[in-house]
Amino acid sequence: MVLVTGATGLVGSHLLYALAEDGEKIRALYRTATKIDQVKELFEWYGEKGSSLFEKIEWVAGDITEIPSLEKAFEGVKTVYHTAAYISFDPKNEEKLLKANYEGTANIVNMCLAKGVDQLCYTSSIATISGNKDLLDEENHWDAAHSNVYATSKYLAEMEVWRGGEEGLKIAIVNPGVIFGPGNWRRGSGWFFTRLASGMQYYPPGGTGFVGVWDVVKAMRKLMESGIYQQRFILVGENLHFKNVFDAISKLLGVAPPEKELRAWMLEVLWRADWLRCAFSGGKRQLSKAVAHSLKNPKKYDNRKICKAVSMDFQPLDDVLQICSRHFKDSSGA
Ligand SMILES: NC(=O)c1ccc[n+]([C@@H]2O[C@H](COP(=O)([O-])OP(=O)(O)OC[C@H]3O[C@@H](n4cnc5c(N)ncnc54)[C@H](OP(=O)(O)O)[C@@H]3O)[C@@H](O)[C@H]2O)c1
Repeated sequence: MVLVTGATGLVGSHLLYALAEDGEKIRALYRTATKIDQVKELFEWYGEKGSSLFEKIEWVAGDITEIPSLEKAFEGVKTVYHTAAYISFDPKNEEKLLKANYEGTANIVNMCLAKGVDQLCYTSSIATISGNKDLLDEENHWDAAHSNVYATSKYLAEMEVWRGGEEGLKIAIVNPGVIFGPGNWRRGSGWFFTRLASGMQYYPPGGTGFVGVWDVVKAMRKLMESGIYQQRFILVGENLHFKNVFDAISKLLGVAPPEKELRAWMLEVLWRADWLRCAFSGGKRQLSKAVAHSLKNPKKYDNRKICKAVSMDFQPLDDVLQICSRHFKDSSGA
């Protein structure tokens, strides 16, 4: 039996699809019952067999921050894919981030150890990969001073997974870049599509690593079948400037791309203005100091380790964005 946490999320739902296609016995951990219908819709969007694949999933309610709620989900499980996480870059959400990502992952590791799970694959992020190298790789050291609250919570979660490894669990950690895939267009990278479709004037100066959700799933599956454990792997298909990615999405959506670059000084002004706005209104932070700094500098990530370990070829980002734009148009009725 395979258990997927975060099964109603972008990665989790695509992982379920791939596992169902391969005929695996799957249990999916969900927190919000209404989101299960969205997963069903996604399966059906992929084609006729979607409905029957969806029927193969056993859904179990649970919250990774509440150990007793996980008991049932872990019964008879040999492999766990832990993708559940809270994603926010707002410093005000630090406590929630640590609770869901750090404490939640510690709970998953402890459940794996207590229930005799054989292997655990954890979805971390390139947010935990820092350093000054031109091409960042898995060997870079953690730089606490220059990280944001999300990155810290994911780094601490990784430490918990390593602990599980020390205590006898077979573990693999993947560190994906920004993941694109059909899903919720108001969350995560989906938000880029929604914002660009409604007209965006500015683009940030930097760049980062991007990857399609199908490659994230493929790499996780291959790792669990490979017998390669106690290692972490960067999952980045292409290192690109935001400008290139935003231009490509705008073209697919048939809208004008953002033409003005957000200058470094503008980002400095913006994060301070955002801080002030939130201090007075109590609203959600949209741009923290750490995120503003990360947007200024292009970062590049080395994907050679995963390519060599499990013979991975990454899908070109243009192809990924094309499929995403089809789903975006179908979902928004455009
Ligand atoms: N998206 C990206 O660009 C990206 C990039 C790099 C790494 N990652 C990592 O990849 C993983 C998957 O990301 P994603 O994009 O699929 O995220 P997502 O779409 O936001 O989904 C997150 C999932 O986690 C679940 N979850 C959150 N808190 C939970 C809790 N306390 N108990 C149980 N379930 C909980 C959510 O359930 P609800 O539906 O109930 O909220 C949802 O199913 C995460 O670990 C993320 O940090 C994502």
